[in-house]
Amino acid sequence: MSISKKSSMDKSKSAQTNQSWGGRFNEPVDDFVARFTASVDFDQRLFRQDIQGSIAHASMLSEVGVLTKTEVQEIISGLESIASEIESGEFAWSTNLEDVHMNIEAALTARIGDVGKKLHTGRSRNDQVATDIRLWLRDEIDTIALLLSALQNGMIELAMTESDTIMPGFTHLQTAQPVTFGHHLLAWNEMLERDFGRLKDCRKRLNYCPLGAAALAGTTYPINRNHTAVTLNFDQPTENSLDSVSDRDFAIEFCAFASILLTHLSRMSEELILWTSAQFQFINLPDRFCTGSSIMPQKKNPDVPELVRGKTGRVNGHLVCLLTLMKSQPLAYNKDNQEDKEPLFDTVDTVRDCLRAFADMIPAIEANKSAMYEAAKRGFSTATDLADYLVGTGIAFRDAHEIVGKAVAYGIAEHKDLSDMSLEELVQFSDQIKDDVFSVLTLEGSVAARDHIGGTAPNQVKAAATRAAGKVACR
Ligand code: ARG
Repeated sequence: MSISKKSSMDKSKSAQTNQSWGGRFNEPVDDFVARFTASVDFDQRLFRQDIQGSIAHASMLSEVGVLTKTEVQEIISGLESIASEIESGEFAWSTNLEDVHMNIEAALTARIGDVGKKLHTGRSRNDQVATDIRLWLRDEIDTIALLLSALQNGMIELAMTESDTIMPGFTHLQTAQPVTFGHHLLAWNEMLERDFGRLKDCRKRLNYCPLGAAALAGTTYPINRNHTAVTLNFDQPTENSLDSVSDRDFAIEFCAFASILLTHLSRMSEELILWTSAQFQFINLPDRFCTGSSIMPQKKNPDVPELVRGKTGRVNGHLVCLLTLMKSQPLAYNKDNQEDKEPLFDTVDTVRDCLRAFADMIPAIEANKSAMYEAAKRGFSTATDLADYLVGTGIAFRDAHEIVGKAVAYGIAEHKDLSDMSLEELVQFSDQIKDDVFSVLTLEGSVAARDHIGGTAPNQVKAAATRAAGKVACR
C-alpha cells in the first residue's frame, strides 16, 4: 500500500469517527452509543462559561509563551464570534461532537483553521468541565442571593407593618400563646437568614480554579495557574490535580442548601395554605397567586404555595441523586460525572422560580387581623400568663399550673375565655387573684409582657425587624 493511499484511508476513517480521538479508533462510534454518551443537549447551557474559560486559558498560554500573540488573538476573536452565534440561536449543535466543549472547539477550528486546534494545549475536558460548572454555578449563586435578599426584604417589611397584629401561636398545631404576626414572619426570616449563610459558604468553597489539572495529573507545559485563576475571578487555583477533576462537592453543597431552603419554603407554604382556608381565614392571598376550580365555583386555591411545597420533593431528589452519583467513585474523573448537570440545573431553576414566586407573594399577603385576634382568644392562650401572675403572688409554678388548669376546665364548661370571666369567678380558684389580673389576661398584655430580645412584644418585633433589615442591607 502506497503512503498516499494509506493517508487517504486514514482521512475517510476520521471523517466518520470523532475528530477529537479519531486517531485511535478503527470504526465509528455506534449511533446509539453516540446518543447515549452525548451531553450536548443539556450542557450547551454552559457555553458562556466554556468560552470564558477557553479565553482565559488561551490568554495564559500566550502569556507563558506557548501560543503567540497573533494566535491568541485569532482564538479569542473566533471564540467571541461563536459566542454571538450561539446567543442568536444560529449555532448548529451536533450530537456527534458529544458535548458543549467539543462542539465549540470544532466550530473554532472550522472558523479560524489549524490555529484553533492549539486551544486544547495543556488542558483536558476534565479540568475544563470542572471549571465551567463552577463558573456557571457561581453566577447562579449570585442571582439566587439577590432573589433571597429581595424575599427577605419583603418579609421583614411586612413584619414591621404587622408588628402588633395578634395571632395565636401554636405548638402541636394547638393554640399555645398569643404572638404577633410580625414575630411569626421574622421566624421565617431567621430560616432564610441561615439559608443565605449556607449559600455564601457554598460560594466561598467553590471559588477555586481547577484549570491546569488537565486530565488528572497536571500538564508538562509551563502554565501559570494563578493567571487563569485571577482572570476568572477565582480566589486561588485548586491544590491537587486529581481532586480538581473529580470534586463535585460544590454541586452537592449547593443542592444541600437548596434542599434546606425548599424545606423552609415548604413549611411557610403549609402555613399559608392553612391560613387561607375557610377554617382559619387568617390571611388573604390576592387572586393573581391563586386559581379556581373547573367544577366548584366557590373555590380559590393557593396554587403557588402548594406548588412550592411540592417542588421540595424534586429538589430533595436531586440532592440524593448527586450524593449517590459521587458515592464510591474512585479518583479521578469518571464519565459518571456527566450526570451531575441535569439535577444541578433543575435545582437552580426550581430555586429561582420558588424564590421569585415567594418574593412576589409575601409582600402581597393581606392579614385578616380580626380573624387572627378572635382565633387567639379561643383556646385559652393566656393561661400561662395567669400562672405567671400567680407565681408573682408567691405561689409555686407547679401549684399555679394546677390552679389555672382548673380555671380552664371551668372555662371549657362555661364556654368562656379566661379574660371573659369575672373577678368573682376567678377567685374561686385562688384568693390571690385581684382585679389587676385582667391586664395580664388580655392578648395585648400577654404579648407586651414578652419584652426581651427574641420575644414577641411589639416593640421587640420592631427592633428585631430593624436589625434583620440591617443584616440584609450589609450584604
Ligand atoms: N461531557 C463531559 C462531562 O460532562 C466532559 C468531560 C469529558 N471527559 C472525558 N474524559 N470523557 O463530564
